[in-house]
Amino acid sequence: MAKIGLLGHGVVGGGVAEILLKNAKLLQERVGQGLELTAICDLRDFSALPYADLFTKDAQALLTRPDIDIVVECMGGVEPARSFVLWAIEAGKHVVTSNKALVVAAGEEIIQKASERGVRFLYEASTGGGIPVIGPLRQNLAANRIDRIAGILNGTTNYILTRMRDGGASFAAALKEAQQKGYAEKDPSADVEGDDARRKICILCHVAFGSPLSDEKMFTEGITKLEKQDMLYAKELGRSVKLIALGERVADGFRASVAPAMLPGDHPLAGVSDVFNAVLVNGDMVGDVLFYGRGAGQLPTASAIVGDLIDIVLHPADRALASAQAPACLDALSGRMRLFSRVLRPLTPGAQQEVEGLFPGARLVTVEGEAFAGEFALISEEGVESELRARFARFDLPHGAIIRYISP
Ligand code: HSE
Repeated sequence: MAKIGLLGHGVVGGGVAEILLKNAKLLQERVGQGLELTAICDLRDFSALPYADLFTKDAQALLTRPDIDIVVECMGGVEPARSFVLWAIEAGKHVVTSNKALVVAAGEEIIQKASERGVRFLYEASTGGGIPVIGPLRQNLAANRIDRIAGILNGTTNYILTRMRDGGASFAAALKEAQQKGYAEKDPSADVEGDDARRKICILCHVAFGSPLSDEKMFTEGITKLEKQDMLYAKELGRSVKLIALGERVADGFRASVAPAMLPGDHPLAGVSDVFNAVLVNGDMVGDVLFYGRGAGQLPTASAIVGDLIDIVLHPADRALASAQAPACLDALSGRMRLFSRVLRPLTPGAQQEVEGLFPGARLVTVEGEAFAGEFALISEEGVESELRARFARFDLPHGAIIRYISP
């Protein structure tokens, strides 16, 4: 019998408890021993729950219980989660977490400590919710040099963009729905400003490229500047607007970023809607592999956590693959790109001259209809992205959000 201690009984922690209790028999049969939920630490009152007797408000008491084998951290945030996790590892317990902020801020320190103590630290649920992606990158795709990862890694923003595109709810109403469904972060600015997706691509780059767990040099732009008009242009162009997290291996290192992108209609990520996430991985031997599923929500995320628990129970001594020297994190905007933006002025000869002065190879797009009156859009020529963005800073005409225009 493996005994589990749970830190945090919020949306995800509650889901872990539900799976361990509801699927206890199935887990026992599958793993060959039971996974027993032994203790739960949460400061809130859960006295009405049928398993109320498992609760304690004393984290120290839970972490030092000699009978607990694995600690599941579902508290969120960096502290006190970091201290509790280090404490658990020091006490010889394996740790599973869904907490991407913790993995990015303290992952290096925790992985080192876990290796010294001979215990495992797994975090599949931190990225892509219920989609298995870290495990497959580590195991099934380990024969490959991974060259590129492109993902829709935030369920809340994908939900909002889907609602905006389909003309239903406003940005605010769609965000509220995502919060009610338990998708959004406690502070949803981490979702809509792109920070959540940046942490996740940072974790995937670490797993795929062996890069350090640091997201400092990663360019991040969320969806707050996008307007319904952008979605309408995308429709006219046979495209979809998505918040895309990108990690690319290049000759002298790798670069990573999160930014809105207009994808061609037949791009594998273009049709990923609602709360769904997808991760498109390119390996040098396997080619493209697409992972798709629910990227947020109680039971999908808890499913990934329980998967990690099973892995630990079956392979308590598993060791991580050795990684080569960490690649350098390059300027995120040093790659070549095309950029789209709406120009909020009628397409007069003067406006055209203004655009062509800065973007000589730009394609100009006008669309008939009241919704597009008094404006047009430009799609720049391909160039170094930082230089193209700098040109927008010098552009005299008012313009909308800058959106990456992904070539087919
Ligand atoms: N707020 C996150 C999302 C939850 O919307 O994807 C899962 O990490």
